Amino acid sequence: MIEIKDVSKTYVSVKRRLRLFQKDFELNGDKDEESTISETYVKKGLIFKKKIKHTHALNKIKLRIRHGEIFGLLGPNGAGKTTLTKIISTLVLPESGTILVNNHDVSTNPTPVRTSLGLVTGGERSLYWKMTPLENLVFFGRLYHLSKKEAEKRALELIEKFKLNDKKDELVQNLSTGQKMKVAFCRALVHDPPLLLIDEAERGLDPRASKEFRKFLKEELQEKQGKTILLCTHNMEILDELCDRIALINKGSIIALGTPERLKLSMKQKHILNLQSHQHIPKDLFDGLENVGSISSKCEDEFHFTDIEIENGTEIANQVLQRIYDAKIKVDEFSLKTATLEDVFLKLTGRKLDDEAEGLDG
Ligand SMILES: Nc1ncnc2c1ncn2[C@@H]1O[C@H](COP(=O)(O)OP(=O)(O)OP(=O)(O)O)[C@@H](O)[C@H]1O
Ligand SMILES: [Mg+2]
Repeated sequence: MIEIKDVSKTYVSVKRRLRLFQKDFELNGDKDEESTISETYVKKGLIFKKKIKHTHALNKIKLRIRHGEIFGLLGPNGAGKTTLTKIISTLVLPESGTILVNNHDVSTNPTPVRTSLGLVTGGERSLYWKMTPLENLVFFGRLYHLSKKEAEKRALELIEKFKLNDKKDELVQNLSTGQKMKVAFCRALVHDPPLLLIDEAERGLDPRASKEFRKFLKEELQEKQGKTILLCTHNMEILDELCDRIALINKGSIIALGTPERLKLSMKQKHILNLQSHQHIPKDLFDGLENVGSISSKCEDEFHFTDIEIENGTEIANQVLQRIYDAKIKVDEFSLKTATLEDVFLKLTGRKLDDEAEGLDG
């Protein structure tokens, strides 16, 4: 369904930094006009230093997303998830590599690609706020070449399905975030595309709506209608519950791929011991202890949080705790938990999912 071959993307953007006020610098010219003086430019009486920045957002990505599967893309902020979604949906061109959606190349033949997919993004920009949900849906249906009658029928069906009946004639700007999100979903589905791309779209849904959303994706869209779904999210619970396969993405590269079970199995018999203390727990305290894996720690509000990966659960945990006790470090709280997708990510990258991406710029 989606074939991604060696796709790379580098963004080129301009960084600017205020250098001087113009009064401190002798310059002629219109102060309100933007004018470039080599690497320095003037705007509204201020002088800026400009620097070109290259961000390598994707690096030779290879993936095949199969027909009818729910495929998850999991990675921290800045990993490249949205960039990949934008390239698949023809909003951004790749710098190199190819993507085929149902055998149509996104770069050279975008029209059939656009017809075959619906895109839901986390922002609420995909709707006209001065129009009602019904007007929006009919409008977008017409853009996808549905007749007026078909567009209205489809819009009303979706409004019914998403329980938006009492909101269908209100201006979108007066809807709550979750309600706007539901209308954005309807918009993506109005032309009944076989492929749905969802980028962080579950944000803003309350727990009940989130549960309904998962059920709808799995039972209605995947199982009944056979749609293929690409899901980008930080919400591991959703990925774990819904996805047939997951790719972990970090700094623009795919670092692991498999079913949620298989990914977690790579951490089989691993437990994570979480400790909270007032004192730092040095890593070398556990030197020579077998079955102790990676150790990560961070300090927040005078508390030290330490996560220790261990094998064979409780027995090793006791030995670890004994060493801390022997070093006269007081532990305020501890817990032992089984591995999650987040731990798989940590093991592969040494980073947590909520760490900001770094070291990408060239
Ligand atoms: N239009 C742009 N111009 C310059 N750099 C960009 C642009 N869009 C994204 N980037 C950079 O590309 C990298 C990947 O961004 P992207 O939005 O794809 O990440 P993401 O995985 O979707 O992150 P998040 O979880 O925060 O949504 C980031 O370093 C980001 O700053
Ligand atoms: Mg994103």
